[in-house]
Amino acid sequence: MKGIVLAGGKGTRLHPLTLSVSKQLLPIYDKPMIYYPLATLIAAGIHEILIISTPEDLPLFQRLLGDGAAWGCSFSYAEQQTPKGLAEAFIIGETFIKNENVALILGDNLFHGSKQLKQFATNDHFVGGQIFAYRVKDPQRYGVVEFDENQKVIGLEEKPEQPKSSFAVPGLYLYDGTVVEKAKQLKPSKRGELEITEINQHYLNAGTLTVHPLELGATWLDTGTIESLIEASQYVQAIQSRQGVLVGSPEIAAYQSGAISKKELQQLAFQQKESEYGKAINAFVAR
Ligand code: G1P
Repeated sequence: MKGIVLAGGKGTRLHPLTLSVSKQLLPIYDKPMIYYPLATLIAAGIHEILIISTPEDLPLFQRLLGDGAAWGCSFSYAEQQTPKGLAEAFIIGETFIKNENVALILGDNLFHGSKQLKQFATNDHFVGGQIFAYRVKDPQRYGVVEFDENQKVIGLEEKPEQPKSSFAVPGLYLYDGTVVEKAKQLKPSKRGELEITEINQHYLNAGTLTVHPLELGATWLDTGTIESLIEASQYVQAIQSRQGVLVGSPEIAAYQSGAISKKELQQLAFQQKESEYGKAINAFVAR
């Protein structure tokens, strides 16, 4: 399975923080935001990754992440000229996807403690579309999934004013290669975007959409507002200082998913030995 990280947008809800810096480069505690979704893909064994951002910000991501070789991965880059919606990622990524299965993760979504992505991404019999559901208290901010009394999905809505359930759809989507054709058929929504919710609707209509509730104990945080941004930092700090283990480290994810050796991980720690982050990777190696 291939991976796409979408790190576009103008981050207007975080102005002035994002006037000159991409939102997905802002710190979440001790590392740039994009490290978290990248680590999620890498930990699931997805090592071939396309990073999509605005023409202005893309060079900054390239400077931060390079070609991915140091982490045993292959990173490529593509521009999203204007913020035309999440589903445009599949049109931009068409030649990268090449009809294979693909996971899209949003550059501002943070997942922790879920084993499901790995389980689905490595399933040889993967079909259709597979998305997740997570109970939140403000579902109107998200895509919302509606279940019937037998837990069967009966509807999907993008940012409904009156949500039919408390289950939001997190920004992590797994699709078969037909997603590219589905994306090309979409028309811009009222807010002028190609909506990911409509892609999911296509799979639902075709009877090939599976919605997995995120397992108990797994956490999904988004970082779209200033409150959620600081909460995400506090969450990471609390877990790291309690457990002494990094959350969202692509280097450690690369090691754990077999992309790099222990020696290579040690070298990556050594290169950053002055920082708390580097020291924490070193402590992981020494465990
Ligand atoms: C997007 C999607 C929405 C999804 C959310 C997850 O919202 O449109 O369906 O629930 O990401 O973060 P947006 O980032 O456009 O507000």
